[in-house]
Amino acid sequence: MDTSGHAVIEKNMGLMIVLIIVAISFGGLVEIVPLFFQKSTTEPVAGLKPYTAMQLSGRDVYIREGCYNCHSQMIRPFRAETERYGHYSVAGEFVYDHPFQWGSKRTGPDLARVGGRYSDDWHRVHLINPRDLVPESNMPAYAWLATAAVDADGVPGKMRALRKLGVPYTEEDIAKASEAVKGKTELDALIAYLQGMGTALRNVR
Ligand code: HEC
Repeated sequence: MDTSGHAVIEKNMGLMIVLIIVAISFGGLVEIVPLFFQKSTTEPVAGLKPYTAMQLSGRDVYIREGCYNCHSQMIRPFRAETERYGHYSVAGEFVYDHPFQWGSKRTGPDLARVGGRYSDDWHRVHLINPRDLVPESNMPAYAWLATAAVDADGVPGKMRALRKLGVPYTEEDIAKASEAVKGKTELDALIAYLQGMGTALRNVR
């Protein structure tokens, strides 16, 4: 007769399931909880700035159009990735992103360091019709963005919401936000967002 209790656990599925869940939860907590307190994951990298009113509007176009379904924003620390895209992504680059746009699908290339790689005009032509620049591209065309106006009245509210989540917008940033995007198109805003991507941590090779 086994006196250690093992036999009891192994013959009782319900108890075993509960104990497995307890063991895995404990392991998970030990791995995850310290990350919330580690400086490298909670502090912005030097030079990281909150999105400008234009970039923030562009980010919302990016989310609305589902660009993340085909593009990740997360360069992994593998040679093949850093050779192609630049320095791997670090947690401190994303502390002002709510929600983050890491994504997990790469039908198109990773965009984490696309900022500054092409001119604004390149993006303009590419977003209106990708095939004008990359004939074999299967990226959809987003031509209507060129005539859709940015929702200028909505930006201050978005900034205030982000401030509640810890993004350091000042009253002045918020007061000037609507003016900064007035008369701009969603295409302008999206390009402003793309051109800022990954630029706080410059491509170090
Ligand atoms: C159906 C998948 C798909 C969707 C959705 C998509 N893309 Fe793409 N994207 C691609 C593919 C494939 C490429 C590579 C070919 C090319 O450059 O067009 C690409 C390329 C790009 C590039 C050039 C990247 C580089 O490093 O050369 C940018 C910038 C880009 N996409 C932005 C966007 C934005 C912004 C959106 C949303 C408005 C978007 N994409 C939506 C598939 C997609």
